[in-house]
Amino acid sequence: MKTGLENKVVLITGGASGIGLASARALLEEGCRIVLADLRPDAALAELGALRSQDVHAVTGDISVPDEARRAVRETVERFGSLDVLVTSAGVYETTGVEMSDEEWERTLAINVSGTFMCARAAIAEMARHGWGRVITLSSMAAHTGGGAAGPAYVTSKSAILGLTKSLAKHAGPHGVTVNAILPGFIETPMTDKIAAGDQEAIRAMTPLRRNGTAEDIAAVVVMLASEGARFITGAQINVNGGLVMD
Ligand SMILES: NC(=O)c1ccc[n+]([C@@H]2O[C@H](COP(=O)([O-])OP(=O)(O)OC[C@H]3O[C@@H](n4cnc5c(N)ncnc54)[C@H](O)[C@@H]3O)[C@@H](O)[C@H]2O)c1
Repeated sequence: MKTGLENKVVLITGGASGIGLASARALLEEGCRIVLADLRPDAALAELGALRSQDVHAVTGDISVPDEARRAVRETVERFGSLDVLVTSAGVYETTGVEMSDEEWERTLAINVSGTFMCARAAIAEMARHGWGRVITLSSMAAHTGGGAAGPAYVTSKSAILGLTKSLAKHAGPHGVTVNAILPGFIETPMTDKIAAGDQEAIRAMTPLRRNGTAEDIAAVVVMLASEGARFITGAQINVNGGLVMD
């Protein structure tokens, strides 16, 4: 079956790095038009723009600020006339532990949870106008394990994404919009760069598929969930972790 993604308009928060950027590359290859929303999207915009400049746009902003989240959706529609797929990949990782500052707790939840909600709410309203849409959220294996290196703010935020995904799926379903969560395992991106090499090796050794994940492994599942073949999947949680956690 074809993916049916040609000419779909995709907004990717956190699209300037890691999983978001790999998803942008994969969806551009499927013929989508792409908007990257990130704090500093210029380098990614230049990279993708070199491939098909007329089909790529960037919005510079902080999605934890509600007006900036709404602006990302609004600018997408202004630039390309529609919004079909939202990928909420913007996120921050926290390893401080329970001794973290009040500010770090609030900032992590503001970006990972509130930013996801603000973007998704505005996007679903737009998708509902034409009765078709896909929202793909990024949770984490840490929501099931309680986290390895990840601290309580990160684990809480990624667990909250699971509840949010189900709630939004119920709200959006009658409008023809699916909402699904991907739970990546350990994925080699700038976010996980700082994890010690020995710890990365230990994770690899425990993983049934005997390797750590790549951003492209997650991007392939983003394409799958966005595609026509995934039309009856909503409110789902998709583990993509090489078998490290199975449930
Ligand atoms: N890498 C992993 O192992 C892993 C595992 C599980 C879940 N995830 C989740 O996947 C998502 C992407 O992670 P990644 O590994 O690609 O990370 P990354 O650090 O490579 O990319 C995250 C992007 O989000 C952007 N961002 C951060 N705060 C923002 C804000 N307030 N407004 C706009 N953009 C902002 C960053 O600038 C960056 O470009 C995150 O939500 C992360 O929690 C990653």
